Amino acid sequence: MRILAVSGSLRRASYNTALLRAAGEAAPEGVDLVLWEGLGDLPLYDQDVDAGDLPAEVARLRKDWGRADAILFATPEYNGSVPGGLKNAVDWASRPRFEAPLTNKTVAVISASEGQFGAMWAQADLRKVLGIAGARVVGDELPVPHVHKKLDSEGRLLDEELLERLRLVLENLAREAAPLAVAV
Ligand code: FNR
Repeated sequence: MRILAVSGSLRRASYNTALLRAAGEAAPEGVDLVLWEGLGDLPLYDQDVDAGDLPAEVARLRKDWGRADAILFATPEYNGSVPGGLKNAVDWASRPRFEAPLTNKTVAVISASEGQFGAMWAQADLRKVLGIAGARVVGDELPVPHVHKKLDSEGRLLDEELLERLRLVLENLAREAAPLAVAV
């Protein structure tokens, strides 16, 4: 099963991206977690552009997200919500209506911040937005507070309990997506 990992942060040393990499290493057997990096290449959503010749970056987003068996998102919090770049990608992936890459896509959301709340508002907003976009949001919330204390300077996860929770998120996501998945 091929699960895409999408980080809401473009930062090179992003904690959210590091968490997704760690989740990939802890992935259950049969799950291939692939980091999708294209968020920063997307133009701003524009309905006129969507109705004309589609930019190559948008076509790639729609193909990659559409073909994935499931998607795991990790988001930071910017001013109490989802970073604009991630919301923009979700907007592109929510169209064309009823046959969009996110329509019935099985997705899960985690979030991380250096603060004590673990970007929980951004996570709640992203779950809401993905649901409205037509995705099946599964699993419990997993906000990761004080994330900088849980990774070493190379971005490796130091917290065994968190690693196990990430593995469980992936296991649940794979189980939920399995009935709809294309065999690989
Ligand atoms: C932040 N940050 C932040 N943190 C938070 O807990 N609540 C918030 O509302 C915000 N707002 C915010 C706005 C902007 C513009 C920036 C740049 C940052 C801090 C942010 O969540 C923190 O830097 C994370 O570590 C960013 O995630 P990555 O890049 O490490 O994945």
